[in-house]
Amino acid sequence: MTVRLAPSILAADFAALGAEIAAAARGGADQIHVDVMDGHFVPNITIGVPVVKSLRKATTLPLDVHLMISDPDRYLEPFIDAGASMVSVHVEVLPHLHRTIAQIKTLGAQAGVVLNPSTPVSAIEEVAGDVDFVLVMSVNPGFGGQVFIPNSLRKIRAVRALLDAAGNRAPIEVDGGIDLTTVAAVVEAGAEWLVAGQAIFAGGQAEAAARQLKARAQAAARA
Ligand code: DX5
Ligand code: ZN
Repeated sequence: MTVRLAPSILAADFAALGAEIAAAARGGADQIHVDVMDGHFVPNITIGVPVVKSLRKATTLPLDVHLMISDPDRYLEPFIDAGASMVSVHVEVLPHLHRTIAQIKTLGAQAGVVLNPSTPVSAIEEVAGDVDFVLVMSVNPGFGGQVFIPNSLRKIRAVRALLDAAGNRAPIEVDGGIDLTTVAAVVEAGAEWLVAGQAIFAGGQAEAAARQLKARAQAAARA
């Protein structure tokens, strides 16, 4: 199993995003996680398409855009045109999830579906063969720096079983409260893409923090 580290820029210094991302990249970041919030689906507002466009010029790493917005269908094309390599959408807001996944792929990005902590795994049962990745939220979306919800480990295992049963090797991404104390357990449960905000950017030493977190994750993946 190959783990990928996805630093979330939500915890970075927004006035120095280029430098923050470069530091995380030196520390082994594999993709950059971009949290888009609309103040409606989640109680916070962050960034939008123009920032993704600028990031596209600032790094060669894939941009992993997590849409925490009420009407993602409306914004798929602008985000993918701006340079999103992966786009994940919340199943809680999508009555036509199958169509949305197909649309993301048609536009040329990898399609991910996201489950909130209270959303059952069964919500993605019918699209398990179609997704490029599944994002399991291990906190309630809206803010960085929250505490990891332990039940997420059971959920990661259940999503892995669902994907395997569908014959889909798509990776599971986990997002929220991932740090040196929680990363090994989520990897052991089957998560391969690891989002981390505070754990990488809060201390002002993104390169060292990324390197340490990735090493811990890789050790767990080998065990
Ligand atoms: C939460 C976001 C996360 C957040 C994670 O709504 O989706 O990506 O940035 O932050 P940490 O790693 O600090 O929990
Ligand atoms: Zn996120």
